[in-house]
Amino acid sequence: MEKSLVIGAAGQIGTELVSELRSKRGIANVIAADLRVDNLASPFYELDATNESALRDLVLNEGVTEIYHLVAILSATGEKAPKRAWELNMKTLLNILDLAKERIIQRVFWPSSIAVFGPSTPKIKTPQFTVMDPNTVYGISKSAGELWCQYYFENYGVDVRSIRYPGLISWKTMPGGGTTDYAIEIFHSARKGIDFRSFLGPDTRLPMMYMDDAVRATIEIMEADPDSIKIRTSYNLSGVDFTPRELFDEIKKIYPEFNITFKPDSRQKIADSWPGSIDDSEAKLDWGWNHKFDTKAIVKLMSDNI
Ligand SMILES: NC(=O)c1ccc[n+]([C@@H]2O[C@H](COP(=O)([O-])OP(=O)(O)OC[C@H]3O[C@@H](n4cnc5c(N)ncnc54)[C@H](O)[C@@H]3O)[C@@H](O)[C@H]2O)c1
Repeated sequence: MEKSLVIGAAGQIGTELVSELRSKRGIANVIAADLRVDNLASPFYELDATNESALRDLVLNEGVTEIYHLVAILSATGEKAPKRAWELNMKTLLNILDLAKERIIQRVFWPSSIAVFGPSTPKIKTPQFTVMDPNTVYGISKSAGELWCQYYFENYGVDVRSIRYPGLISWKTMPGGGTTDYAIEIFHSARKGIDFRSFLGPDTRLPMMYMDDAVRATIEIMEADPDSIKIRTSYNLSGVDFTPRELFDEIKKIYPEFNITFKPDSRQKIADSWPGSIDDSEAKLDWGWNHKFDTKAIVKLMSDNI
C-alpha cells in the first residue's frame, strides 16, 4: 500500500494536492507536513524539512513510500533573501533525494518552474531543451535542482519525477510570494470592488495554469509507468498564457465597473526574463498530459468561487 507524504502541505499547491490525494487514496494514506500548522486536517505533522533527522524519523515511523516535496522560497521572496532561498531550496531537496537513494522511500515528486528559463531563452513556445540562463536565485536553485534530480536518477536509480509549473491560479489559498501572484490578487480586488494596481505591465505575457490542472498533472506523472518518464530533469508543462491587460479584459466582462492601473515593481524584471508561452510536447508524448482549463473557464471559476 502506498503512503504519501506531502511536505509544504499548507502552501498554495499543497493544500489542494493533499485534499485531492486524500479523496483518491484515503485520508490515512496521505500525511501532510509543514512548518506552519494552520488549516490542515490530521494526519498532519509540524516539520522543518531542513531537519534531516526529524524528516527521516517521520518517514520511517509512518512507513512513507513516496514524498511530494513542495517546500521552497519562491521567486519574488527569494530575491529579498537570496542565500536563504538557495539554502532552503537545495538542502530540503537533497535531504529527500537521499531518502530515496537509501530506498527508504520509492518515489519523489519535486516541482521545478518556468523560472529555470532566462533572458536568452526563446520566449514563444519555449521548447523542452533550449538555452537556460536563469537570473533569479529561485531560477538558479530550480535549475540546479533539476540537474540534481537527473544525477540521482542516473547514478543511484532514484525514481524522481518533476514538472516545470507555470504560474498557478487558485482560489482556495493565497499565493506564496511569486511573480505571477497578480493573476490571483486581481480576482480578489474585482470581488471586493476595489481598483486593481498591477505590479506587472499591461503587455507582460506569462504562462499560467488553473490549480486543478496542476494537481492532476502532479498525480498523473506520479502514477505513470516509470519507463514512460524519459526526462528526469523536469518536464515543460503548458496551460494558458495571457497578459495582465488580457486577463483584466476578461474579468471586466463579469465586473463591468472594475478598473486597473499598472505600476510595475521589481517583479517586472523577473517576469521579463521568463517565457511567454511553453511547448509541452514531451509531457504529452511521454505520459499523456493535456490541460483542460482555458482562460475563459479560469476567469469564470475564479469569479464564482472567490
Ligand atoms: N505557485 C506557483 O505558481 C508555482 C509555480 C512554479 C513552481 N512552484 C513550486 O511549487 C512548490 C510549492 O509552491 P507553493 O506556491 O505551494 O508555495 P507556498 O509558498 O504557497 O508553500 C510552501 C510551503 O512550504 C512551507 N515551508 C517553508 N519552509 C519549510 C520548511 N523548512 N519545512 C517545512 N515546510 C516549509 C511553507 O510554510 C509553505 O506552507 C514550490 O517548490 C514552488 O517553487 C509554484
